[in-house]
Amino acid sequence: MATLVRNLSQIATPTGRAGKRGRAMRELRVHERAVIVIDGERIAYVGPENEKPETLVIDDDVDARGATAVPGFVDTHTHIPFAGFRESEFNRRLQGETYEQIAASGGGIASTVHATRAATLEELVSNVLARTATMARYGTTTAEAKSGYGLDVECELKQLRAVKGANAISPVRLVPTCLAAHEFPPESRGSDAAREAYVSTIIGEILPAVAEEQLAVFCDAFVERGVFTRDQGERVLRAGLSLGMMPRLHADELSDTDGAALAAELGAASADHLMYISERGVDALAASATVANLLPATSFFLMSDRYAPARDLIDKGGMVSVSTDCNPGSSMTESMQMVMQLATLRMKMTVEESLTAATLNGAHSLRISHETGSIETGKRADFVLLDAPSYLHLIYHFGVNLVSGVWRDGRRVV
Ligand code: NIG
Ligand code: FE
Repeated sequence: MATLVRNLSQIATPTGRAGKRGRAMRELRVHERAVIVIDGERIAYVGPENEKPETLVIDDDVDARGATAVPGFVDTHTHIPFAGFRESEFNRRLQGETYEQIAASGGGIASTVHATRAATLEELVSNVLARTATMARYGTTTAEAKSGYGLDVECELKQLRAVKGANAISPVRLVPTCLAAHEFPPESRGSDAAREAYVSTIIGEILPAVAEEQLAVFCDAFVERGVFTRDQGERVLRAGLSLGMMPRLHADELSDTDGAALAAELGAASADHLMYISERGVDALAASATVANLLPATSFFLMSDRYAPARDLIDKGGMVSVSTDCNPGSSMTESMQMVMQLATLRMKMTVEESLTAATLNGAHSLRISHETGSIETGKRADFVLLDAPSYLHLIYHFGVNLVSGVWRDGRRVV
């Protein structure tokens, strides 16, 4: 069953089975007036129509009507298995309260923990499916999904089971992360000893239960002033690692906590946020195998002028990816197009760097860049058609949804 996608203005893609660092992030392969052949779940050919191998028997034909094809977006940092919204907290922020002040007054992550604990598994599955449907319409074909609104054994498992349940039918491929170290639960906030007890619960109960059911590929921790200390974060991530879950890390988001250097030291798959990364952190990360995952929609939504130093990280040879951080408090969006526009217009990444960051480099950080993240023969057929004559329109034609078609694993999902 081979399908020919023809009449494309352009195919624009990074290339290779691993992510790109530094200057190489700008190197896209751009095919003009080429075709894509899908065979089963994979790409069988990319190039000029008249050079396609004769062995490929085409039995289906799609007219792309002059669209541009780019790889399906890989969103490597989301908190989508949540219940309830926080639009009134958002409105309080518009009146001048800060994200941290709202959290300190009992709102923030704690309000979502309350709603998520009260939700049934079925409700969470349906919330994840609603979010992945939106993601797919905006061109995302793979997304990471974190727990972290349960903060006890039962509810962390419920969130990760919801991701697993949704993944079986979702248009988006989901990769689960256990973020039990997202915040201290309301019942463990009273004292340093209570906080330590929750760290012990994560290490002794939550992570082993998650590993036992094979519910997470990665383990994450929010290392931040007022949340987990560097030492607590390190203990949690090392415990995850010993159970086979690779670390990722919320690092230097609201203040410099030396999180980037910790991520590099642990060989984490990614260090995320990095709005307050130090010079030392930039150097450590750029020289390491850890992907710097930048979330400019969070700065935008928190109305901060502070964006992660993308230019510095790339110019020093780092590997950068970008993601939505989709969550009800600090970034209520599923749109990777919006994220790429902010990466380019606010963080001064080039269009080519933004596209590589949103595709191949994201896939690298999820350890699946040999399977997805570029439009190349042999990879999974995960790609997006944009109603645009060239890939530059991804940024140039901003604030609208350019997606006119999405394929994942060879199947048209939009
Ligand atoms: O990535 N930093 C912690 N977690 C989220 C916010 C979660 C929330 O506000 O519910 C973030 O910004
Ligand atoms: Fe986050």
